[in-house]
Amino acid sequence: MNATLPTAEDLRAALAGLLDGLPPKQAAQAVERLIANYRGTTPTDAPVLRDRSDVAAYAAYRMPATFEAVRAALAAFREAAPDWVPVTHTDIGGGTGAASWAVAGTWEGPRTTVLDWAEPALALGRELAERSGVPALRAAEWRRARIGAGQELAPTDLITVSYVLKELTADVRAALVDTAAAAAQAVVVVEPGTPDGYARIIEARDRLIAAGLKVAAPCPHSEACPIEPGTDWCHFSARVSRSSLHRQVKGGSLPYEDEKFSYVVATRFGTEPVSARVTRKPQIRKGQVLLDLCTRDEALRRATVTKRHGELYRAARDVAWGDEWPPGQDT
Ligand SMILES: C[S@@+](CC[C@H](N)C(=O)[O-])C[C@H]1O[C@@H](n2cnc3c(N)ncnc32)[C@H](O)[C@@H]1O
Repeated sequence: MNATLPTAEDLRAALAGLLDGLPPKQAAQAVERLIANYRGTTPTDAPVLRDRSDVAAYAAYRMPATFEAVRAALAAFREAAPDWVPVTHTDIGGGTGAASWAVAGTWEGPRTTVLDWAEPALALGRELAERSGVPALRAAEWRRARIGAGQELAPTDLITVSYVLKELTADVRAALVDTAAAAAQAVVVVEPGTPDGYARIIEARDRLIAAGLKVAAPCPHSEACPIEPGTDWCHFSARVSRSSLHRQVKGGSLPYEDEKFSYVVATRFGTEPVSARVTRKPQIRKGQVLLDLCTRDEALRRATVTKRHGELYRAARDVAWGDEWPPGQDT
């Protein structure tokens, strides 16, 4: 390790051995208990991640996926603001630090503060950061804090809120987004790519815009989302290598899984959002590619790119779900 910008490989290496010592069956049971807790009633009044085994199970099982989701959101943000570099970063509900790893993997050296109410999560996050060998992660501050009424946030360049909104009541969610909007130059919110995850993202997006921020990604504009509520949900997909623990818990032998996520990035400074983004997996047919797009000028539309389009057709065969369309252009 010891790279300046940590990769998914580095994270896997830091996570390796986390559940060592626990017999495989017990490790799988710890993960299953955690999943059941997360499926149960959240928000809760007390942390779901209560002890070291909960937290180790969370980190081993979920952290690679939430890391990849945040990394994809940050990649889209960077495309919209290639010259912007955060100097300070606050990771709210940062847990074991997945979003902080993604931030450290995107920009060199931001000073990170991780806030969470679960002390065991912070302790493990600190340990993993130490193992990363990455100076920015090793220097991160891990601080116990409860998200809730009256929470104050010090001014910071970047705030990440990754897979946290689901755990909060509607009032606390709204207050958190408003506080983040007032404290930061840029706010990145990531949620599971489910209809209700998307609904929370739209709610956050509306509040960020109302607070005077503009959307940098994934949307091509800061107007209302063109998706009619209840008909569809905007989400993306990030590929995550599966560890042996994943395979054990979920069964099957695929070496990867796809993490579906929804996100919004909003900033106080000007950015260049894409003019159109691919919002579903492209469908490649004989001699043509069908692209579902969210566009700046024509809302949602389907583009059919055929061999007759030459260069554009070749680009369409390579473009991925979540990418800008056409690639590298602002037309
Ligand atoms: C699903 S985990 C996500 C962790 C991390 N952000 C990630 O992306 O992997 C949710 C985190 O939010 C924290 N959390 C939930 N409610 C909270 C609250 N009211 N105050 C502080 N932290 C909270 C939990 O302790 C947990 O670490």
